[in-house]
Amino acid sequence: MSLLAVESLVVAHGDLVAVRDVSFNIEEGGVFVLLGANGAGKTSILRAISGLNPPRSGTIASDGRNLAGLKPHEVAAAGIAHVPEGRRVFPHLSVEDNLTVSFLVRRTNLKLAQARDNVYALFPRLAERRRQNGGTLSGGEQQMLAIGRAMMNFPRLLMLDEPSLGLSPLLAETVFERLGEISKLGLTILLVEQNAIALRLATRGLILTNGQVVLLGEVSALQDSEFVRHSYLGL
Ligand SMILES: Nc1ncnc2c1ncn2[C@@H]1O[C@H](COP(=O)(O)OP(=O)(O)OP(=O)(O)O)[C@@H](O)[C@H]1O
Ligand SMILES: [Mg+2]
Repeated sequence: MSLLAVESLVVAHGDLVAVRDVSFNIEEGGVFVLLGANGAGKTSILRAISGLNPPRSGTIASDGRNLAGLKPHEVAAAGIAHVPEGRRVFPHLSVEDNLTVSFLVRRTNLKLAQARDNVYALFPRLAERRRQNGGTLSGGEQQMLAIGRAMMNFPRLLMLDEPSLGLSPLLAETVFERLGEISKLGLTILLVEQNAIALRLATRGLILTNGQVVLLGEVSALQDSEFVRHSYLGL
């Protein structure tokens, strides 16, 4: 059974059909990249998976369990974490409180401390700034905090919506490096990107155009495709 199985997914916003008949499976381990241009429907897919925007039709399952009708916090409790587009940290809460309020699972103090320590181990910069307000962090640090918040519930699948957006190439590189480390810890990643650097991190993926899958497979196949060479690498 797949960690995530998306079958014939259709997502609409009113009359506008943003995602048309999209199917893909993600197995445990590795980084699956979802590449597409602005408006391709990437965010719509992530929001459908995490219960923020229920699909018009199709099925989404994790380990054979249908996620249809689950509330966002229930999807999170099922082990699927979502780092939304544009970061969204609480600007007036400290780094530490941003992490604490994101902790949803079995509320024991021990687990909470463990979850926070895991995040601080991954992002020592956050540990140094634990008393600083979220809103005063740099863009890259805010992205790390957003990822840290998603990690607080010990997810099995970490979904990230364009984590490199608005970051300098160097900071984007740092964020991708951390994602590589997170993946090595055994966590499966679903990475939504427009940035072709994501291909370096990924094992499998798909390319989305106008809400439809145009390519699905191993990253080597995506990399060699006319589409990626032209749209993402400028070749
Ligand atoms: N709440 C909404 N109401 C109406 N239309 C929407 C809504 N959200 C998204 N759309 C439309 O759905 C389509 C897909 O949007 P989506 O945000 O999924 O794209 P995206 O691939 O994430 O793009 P970007 O890279 O710019 O974030 C777009 O045409 C967008 O205008
Ligand atoms: Mg988007």
